[in-house]
Amino acid sequence: MSDCSTKPSRIAICPGSFDPFTLGHLDIATRASRMFERVIVAVAAVTGKQPLFTIDERVAMIREAVEGLPNVDVDFFSGLVVDFAAARGASAIVKGLRVVSDFEHERQMALMNTALAPGIETVFLLTSVQNLFLSSSLVRQVASLGGDIEPFVPPGVLRRLQDRFSKDD
Ligand code: PNS
Repeated sequence: MSDCSTKPSRIAICPGSFDPFTLGHLDIATRASRMFERVIVAVAAVTGKQPLFTIDERVAMIREAVEGLPNVDVDFFSGLVVDFAAARGASAIVKGLRVVSDFEHERQMALMNTALAPGIETVFLLTSVQNLFLSSSLVRQVASLGGDIEPFVPPGVLRRLQDRFSKDD
């Protein structure tokens, strides 16, 4: 069991599958970067489903997207999120909350993470209004059907999604 309770830090992680990273994720990482000295976007290598993008692709896309945020790093993890957080000296896990239906699942994960590592707090940021309807799965679906996803993703993600789906025609 990890316990960082004796060592509060100003490091936070923003974990997720990020398949792909959207402007909603970027907004949460940006806002977290104003609250913490250092933020690590932690990309889950194991997502429980077949990802559209490999872990290397997801990490590369996010690195491009957060280039302008000097205190934000990107890395991947494949075990427990709290073990990754503890190994990086983080004392907080930052997640975005969109709608009420997100809350039950997010609360369950947060309570499990607290049980595993009592010193690591989960901090929820309300998703900005313009991103309330955004999700990686909807972005994948719209992109796969030829819809315009430019308003919803960073430019590097847009380019890779267009490449991916133009090859599948
Ligand atoms: O973007 P997602 O799919 O909502 O991200 C979920 C993620 C990757 C943050 C979550 O599934 C996770 O933390 N996985 C790592 C495994 C783990 O620690 N599980 C136990 C506590 S939830």
